[in-house]
Amino acid sequence: MISCEQEEIVEKYSDHFFSLLNVSVDHEIWHGDLITRLKSASVPRQELKTLMLQYYFYVKDFARWLEAIYGNAQSPFEQAALVNNIAEEKGRGAPGEKPHAVLLAELLAKMGIDLDERALPLAKTQVAYSYFNDMSKNNAAWQALYAFGPGTEQISDLFLEPMENAIKTEYGFRGDIDYFLVHKEETEKEHAIAFKIAIASHLESLPPSERGFRMEEGLSITLAAVEAHATFFSGIQKLLTTLH
Ligand SMILES: [Fe+2]
Ligand SMILES: [Fe+2]
Repeated sequence: MISCEQEEIVEKYSDHFFSLLNVSVDHEIWHGDLITRLKSASVPRQELKTLMLQYYFYVKDFARWLEAIYGNAQSPFEQAALVNNIAEEKGRGAPGEKPHAVLLAELLAKMGIDLDERALPLAKTQVAYSYFNDMSKNNAAWQALYAFGPGTEQISDLFLEPMENAIKTEYGFRGDIDYFLVHKEETEKEHAIAFKIAIASHLESLPPSERGFRMEEGLSITLAAVEAHATFFSGIQKLLTTLH
């Protein structure tokens, strides 16, 4: 539950969070060929397999990244932003839940993708992976909070929904797909709010004269995170174009 006090400090920085959202959703990758084709469910099976295998390489360590940020956290606010999220990632959110990486592996199996194949991450998948790996482990927690909150959780519906749509249509899967179900927009927005509370608390902890500069830094980190996602998707887009 979010307290009134937490709501108030997030509200205090609402213009800042609004501008972080705006720069993230405006990125051209979300209007690019791959996402557009996923939205209209016109990506053939073989291409979906390529995308989802690379996506697995990209996100398989997400829980570990959140744990690394937790380890670097300097304040209880920063840690609190991550606790539920880590539990959910590791399948401890509710009885019977599985780790998200397992749910993704199960989806891949249903799609006929063999994880044991000797497939490797594309160079651009590796670049994007390294950005988040490094950001989570080798940076201050407040920096990582911008990359994983406004730069990721806040906008993940921009790629998760098109992916789900294309997979369901191509494979004729009925009902919910567990991996996408645990990443529904509402859940991701809740995660994003937890990150916002931590960021706002962090800004409040600074002398007022430093907050403006810190917010500018936060904006450039958010942009860099979105750029990393764009690098991942543009790598797939480029590969698929050459296969056409
Ligand atoms: Fe997840
Ligand atoms: Fe999330």
